[in-house]
Amino acid sequence: MRESTSSARPGRNDPCWCGSGKKYKKCHFSVDTAGGAIKAPRPERPRGHDVMIKSPGQIEGIRRASQLTREILDMLTPRVVPGVTTDQINTWVHEHTIAAGATPSPLNYKGFPKSVCTSINEVVCHGIPEDRELRDGDIVNIDVTCTLDGYFGDASRMYLVGNVSPEARRLVQVTKACLERGIAVVAPGGFIGDIGAAIEAHAKANGFSVVRDFVGHGTGVRFHEELQVPHFGRKGTGQPLVPGMVFTIEPMINMGDWPVRILADGWTAVTADGSLSAQFEHTVAVTETGVDVLTA
Ligand code: MF3
Ligand code: CO
Ligand code: CO
Repeated sequence: MRESTSSARPGRNDPCWCGSGKKYKKCHFSVDTAGGAIKAPRPERPRGHDVMIKSPGQIEGIRRASQLTREILDMLTPRVVPGVTTDQINTWVHEHTIAAGATPSPLNYKGFPKSVCTSINEVVCHGIPEDRELRDGDIVNIDVTCTLDGYFGDASRMYLVGNVSPEARRLVQVTKACLERGIAVVAPGGFIGDIGAAIEAHAKANGFSVVRDFVGHGTGVRFHEELQVPHFGRKGTGQPLVPGMVFTIEPMINMGDWPVRILADGWTAVTADGSLSAQFEHTVAVTETGVDVLTA
């Protein structure tokens, strides 16, 4: 999702950001301000459509949507070959999603015209399927989100089309490792900033840059919930990680510099310098002991 500029904390008497329904001063205020030990607030009955802490039942629903998303990404693997159009990929994703009793979340989302995002080469994210054929040597990100029984599962992968250059393959491998390193630091007691710090360190060590204009996001009961997950930052900063949080981690890593620009269609984000870009995404839940990758 697009990064928003405001990340103000709630007022002391406002509801806590975590969705517990308690006043902020009675809930996460001391944790946020002191950065001390985490006491996970667990609402007995999560209410409304935007709780940050999901109940075990909600997490099972999100897991089912996430597993459908993973199945669709798997289904595509042998099909993404030279000559296939991104429109054809869109049709496969759409039909598989509907056949499973779910809906493709991107379709008509804020006016997005298709059921999946397909982002080729210098396209960073939100590429719109069209009649362009995939060519030998392309790298393409396919980003699938399913809505099943009201729950969302969001994940994406890179696909190599035919013979891909060693540099492009290295970008894809490093980006996958960036996601894995980001996931590996998710645990209660940690902070959102730990994730970006781990990702940024690995990208930079390999001579690549981290896109700053798009971030991971809370998800599960809405496509994009308030929580933001930057793929850069400092360890020990940002929201404390609490069991029951569900969010995506979806680093976009550029071979060149990080600035992006948006094409005239209002969606397609490309690298400003024309360099290649790669992305992988998982939906994860924070557990009592660590992390559960729901789209794995
Ligand atoms: N799936 C994308 C994400 O990871 C969002 C796509 S929004 C759309 O957040 F409208 F382009 F589909
Ligand atoms: Co996402
Ligand atoms: Co996505």
